[in-house]
Amino acid sequence: MRANVLRMTPYTPGKPIDEVKRELGLTSVVKLASNENPLGPGAKALAAVQEAALSMHLYPDASGYELRQAISAKFGVSDAMVMLGNGSDELIHMLGLVFLEAGDNVVIGAPSFVRYDAAADLSDVELRRVPLDSTWRHDLEAMAAVCDARTKLVFVANPHNPTGTVLTHTEVVAFLDALPSGCVAVLDEAYYEYSADVEDRLDAVTLLKAGRNVVILRTFSKAFGLAGIRVGFGLASAEVVDAVNRAREPFNVNSLAQAGAIAALSDSDHLAESVRVNLDGLSRIENAMRGWGFETVSSRANFICVNVRRDGNEVFQALLREGIIVRSGVPLGMPEYIRVSIGNSDEMSAFLSAFERVVVGVGV
Ligand SMILES: Cc1ncc(COP(=O)(O)O)c(C=O)c1O
Repeated sequence: MRANVLRMTPYTPGKPIDEVKRELGLTSVVKLASNENPLGPGAKALAAVQEAALSMHLYPDASGYELRQAISAKFGVSDAMVMLGNGSDELIHMLGLVFLEAGDNVVIGAPSFVRYDAAADLSDVELRRVPLDSTWRHDLEAMAAVCDARTKLVFVANPHNPTGTVLTHTEVVAFLDALPSGCVAVLDEAYYEYSADVEDRLDAVTLLKAGRNVVILRTFSKAFGLAGIRVGFGLASAEVVDAVNRAREPFNVNSLAQAGAIAALSDSDHLAESVRVNLDGLSRIENAMRGWGFETVSSRANFICVNVRRDGNEVFQALLREGIIVRSGVPLGMPEYIRVSIGNSDEMSAFLSAFERVVVGVGV
């Protein structure tokens, strides 16, 4: 077997609710670990998926024609610039396969979303990790400085995962100006919809339309509430989309996912409510933590990192015993933090009272 594959670490998903119930004998468990939408899918998407289920004996449309049309109309780009993936995870994977050859390198922030590492490792190329700055934002100058003629991909998530931090449009433009010409900037906007109120917000679509060397990734897993049926999309030059289409599996996005995504795209009420509930939850956690004297990382995503000033694993375990699943910052590269996904109002109350009992109550 290839040594680079054996060096890869399998992805660790958030702990499943049923497993925690079984292991700890709990009846009620709240999962705030995978940045899912606490409202669930919208009614329109649900109805479309139910309808599509009647045809599940047929192969899906391999080109995803209708969904690509809907996306191309929404963003004002040609459908030749739209690619679909089995989640945006698959598109990250495909970009690695399509771009990377022996001797190339990939540049990412540290910490960063773990699937970027996998894209580089699978192609056995060098991964250059550039530490985030002291406020947990990408250090774009340092990232540009380590790019060279063999840097094929640089991944920038905005809002970033695991931190939730954002960059401005001006900062990203300066970064793109500083990149070597052969380097593609992958602007991963999985959490885009939650960041509406950011000043000088990154407008990646305009950059793509202006011919910048960028690939934009978006997903239906977060604000659109469809993580379980796996569908994401990318906007890129027609050449990049063509290359990914040649290399991908023909039926990578299933028919239920295609139908659900088309419906979700037109459900502005569900989207607006998802964003509103998220902002509520974010500010509740920020306020409570401020009141207790714990710092949070400024987030425009559907999760927030809390500096717990002790080993993140300990706090993760203590909350788990209370029936609350969060992410320890230890495997995420933020050892004294926990990352908490934003839930609905009841879930936020459950998290905050558990945190008060097992963290605030025991002192530092
Ligand atoms: C930054 C980032 N990109 C991409 C993804 C992948 O999302 P999906 O494959 O569900 O579209 C995630 C998921 O958590 C993420 O945090």
